[in-house]
Order: sequence, then C-alpha cells, then structure tokens
Amino acid sequence: MDKLAQKIEADGANDKSCYIKTFGCQMNVYDSQRMAEALVEAGYRAVDTPDDADMIILNTCHIRERAAEKVYHELGRLRPLKQRNRNIVIGVAGCVAQAEGAEIISRAPMVDMVFGPQTFQQLPAMLDEVTQTRSQGRKARLVRTEFPAAEKFAALTQVPRKPITRSPSAYVTVQEGCDKFCTFCVVPYTRGEEVSRAAPEIIAEAKGLAEQGVCEITLLGQNVNAWQDRDSGQRLAGLLDDLAEIEGLHRLRFTTSHPRDMDAALIAAHGQNEKLMPYLHLPVQAGSDKILKAMNRKHTAAEYIALCKEFRAVRPDLALSSDFIIGFPGETDEDFAATMALVEEVNYAQSYSFKYSPRPGTPAAEDENQVDEAVKAARLQTIQGLISAQQTAFNDAQLGRVLPILFDKPSKHAGQITGRSPYLQPVHVTVPEGQDAEAVFAAVRGRILPVEITRTHRNSLSGQFSDAL
Ligand code: 5AD
Ligand code: SF4
Repeated sequence: MDKLAQKIEADGANDKSCYIKTFGCQMNVYDSQRMAEALVEAGYRAVDTPDDADMIILNTCHIRERAAEKVYHELGRLRPLKQRNRNIVIGVAGCVAQAEGAEIISRAPMVDMVFGPQTFQQLPAMLDEVTQTRSQGRKARLVRTEFPAAEKFAALTQVPRKPITRSPSAYVTVQEGCDKFCTFCVVPYTRGEEVSRAAPEIIAEAKGLAEQGVCEITLLGQNVNAWQDRDSGQRLAGLLDDLAEIEGLHRLRFTTSHPRDMDAALIAAHGQNEKLMPYLHLPVQAGSDKILKAMNRKHTAAEYIALCKEFRAVRPDLALSSDFIIGFPGETDEDFAATMALVEEVNYAQSYSFKYSPRPGTPAAEDENQVDEAVKAARLQTIQGLISAQQTAFNDAQLGRVLPILFDKPSKHAGQITGRSPYLQPVHVTVPEGQDAEAVFAAVRGRILPVEITRTHRNSLSGQFSDAL
C-alpha cells in the first residue's frame, strides 16, 4: 500500500492545518491533491504529519487485503491525538469510506465525517456543518456516500488549480468509475459507473497546469481508454492530440486501460503523437481463458497478445506493463502455467502481481473453489521471479543509450538527482564533484535533458549528463 503524504506548500496566511494521508492508486493521489486545494481555499495549510493538525483525512483504498481493518488500525493510532485535542476534525474518505459508510462512525466514534470518492467536493460545506453542529454542543457524524460523479467533475473545474503541488509532472482525472464488473473487483461498487469528464474541462485544467510549469500530464481513469466526450463523441486519441498542442506540455501518459476499450486510433497514436510516451499499462490479470472468463474480463489471452503486437508494430520500443491476480478461485496448475506462458510471450518492462483477495460483495468472493493461501504464495513467488527477470532485461537494454530524462523530484540519495525516462524508469544522475545536488536539481527541475545510461539496476537506471541526443 502506498503512503503518499501530500506535499503542499504551506500557505503562511492560513492558521489552521490539515493532514491528508493517501492510500492506494493515483486516482486517490489526485483526489487528495484536490481536497488539499479546497482546504487551502477554506483557510487551512497542508502539513506533513498528523501531530498538530486541526484536520486529519485518511483517503483510503479498498482494492486488496483487509483494507477496512487497516483503516481501523490507522484510526486507532490517531486516537491519542483526538483525546489530547477534541477539536480535531477527523475524516475518512475514499473507497473504504464508500464501502463501509456509517459502519466506520459506529466502530470509530472519533470520526466526524465519512465521504466517498464522488463527494469530496462537498468538503468545505461538510466542515462548516461539523463546526456548526459542534457549536450547538452536539457531535457531527456526517456520512456522504452518494454517486454524483458529474457534480464532482463540475466542482473540480470551478476550483482553479493552484500552484501548490511542487512537481512538474501532474495527474489529471478524466474518467471515473467502471462498468466492467470483473468478478474480483470492488471498483464498480466503490467508484460507481463510468463517467467521462468533458473535453473542454480537461483542456482548461491542462492549460492551467502548463502555465504553472507542469510539463508532463498523466491522464487518470479506472478505464481511461473508455473516455469519451459526451458532446463531441471524441475519444482518447483525439484528446491526446489536443493536449499535445498545448504549449509547455512535453509528455503525455494515461492509465489504466482495459484491453476491450482499445480503439485503432489510440493504437495509431502511439506511432504518431510525439508527446505520447512509449509506456502502456494494460492489465491482463491472467493468461488462462477459463480464468479470464470466470473473471468476466471479456477478452481471451490470444486477443490480448494480438493487441500487444499491434501496439509494438507502431511503437517497437513500447514498454508494456500489466497487473496479474494469482490464485483466483478455481485456478489450477495448468491455468497458472498459461499465465506464465503469457508473461513469457508478451515480455513486460514491468508488472504488478497480487494474490487474489476476496472482496466482500463481489461474485468471486462467494466462489467455493478458493485457492489455498500457500499455493497462492508459491505461485506468486514464481511469477514475480519471471517478472523481475524481464524487468532487469528491459533495464539492461538501456545500457549505453542516451535517453531524454525529465527531472521531476529531488533525489532520496545524497549527491544525486533523479528523473524519469520515457519508459517511466527512475534515472539517477550523480552530480559532479564539488557541486551541490539541491542546486543542480533546482537548475534542472522540469527540464528534459539527455542522460547517458551507464549502469542498470532492477528498479532504476544510473547515468551521466550527455550532450548528444
Ligand atoms: N484481489 C487481488 N488483486 C486485485 N486487484 C483488484 N481486485 C483484486 C482482488 N480482489 C488488482 C487487479 C487490478 C489492480 C489495480 O488490483 O490486478 O488491476
Ligand atoms: Fe475493476 Fe475490472 Fe473495472 Fe478494472 S476493469 S476497475 S479490474 S472491474
């Protein structure tokens, strides 16, 4: 589980503080940023620890393993803070909030508000309500878990984005929800049906970000390639073309795609749109047709492999990545072998693999043929060995190449600065002797510079600045 504390520049004029802890996917990261922006607008300053915060929000994820339990555990850790200062406002947001609703407040009475991914735009109004209810000597217990996704998108556009996020790389949510109902997945229940944001809203947000120095945008959606403008019928490839026209934007990415929603124009865009990066996250989940059918994925292994080939035909250096679920109910040794064979055939630049975890309320959780945990663990280890070998090979193939690197974040390592390759690999560059890494980073932040790759590692590359490109 990712823990993404929001890095927001303190607004000196705001005397109250808020702390947002983010779990899970990039859509939650984006939602947390928008919540922080709304809170700054409402007079808060964003801080990095919960210790002295006046407001604490846990933006939760429900996708895998004991998600709700983790939230209760996290709330338990916040209890001493609330005992010390009863005025703190505690909110639980995101997909666990959506799934558990009022149950959270009955199990954790210290929580003041529970709100789902589609209702966080009501945050300032909810805060007012909490304050008012408290001033009447009562305890606020707000639960907002409706699904007005269109309303959320409208509200997102009304609040112009402020330059409070520091990275030259930004997320923009273009689509929410999912209608696919894969039998293992909670998303259709927690995020609701597929809703696309209107093209003019997206373009306006992207232009605003570019004006603030953002040069890379990643479009987000649970089924991002199902995006379609309501009025014009435009699809994702067209939107990417329009985004490519925006001055200052140099890199475009999008995630996560469903194989069934790929259209010819989006495949072709990978050979035509020069700003579109050669990296595609295209989850397949399994390689056995029997399991894919039981998962309700609506495609076969052969169809998926053919799709990957179409992409590689227009963009031979495309880095492909996928998600795999290991030990789905009914998965036999043969089914698992088919998944291994698919991985061998596609040859991924990287991939994520998870043990199947029954999610309450989803059809697969009711299946009687659950796979033994030890079998799942052994298979997971096997597939991760193969994925890791492919990732290493993909990274090794960059040795000696000069790649354009976007420097977006300061490095965690002393004496180094870090950027991203077109293939999304972190690339570390050691700053020349006698130079200060922070000063070098400040000079290159948001720029795309040629770096010669001199060493490769499993999860990253190292290199030195090069003049040639
Ligand atoms: N168990 C394990 N992994 C899951 N995912 C979604 N639901 C489950 C589950 N019940 C994985 C899928 C998806 C990724 C975001 O999380 O692989 O693509
Ligand atoms: Fe979940 Fe399947 Fe929808 Fe992806 S496509 S969000 S895995 S239901």
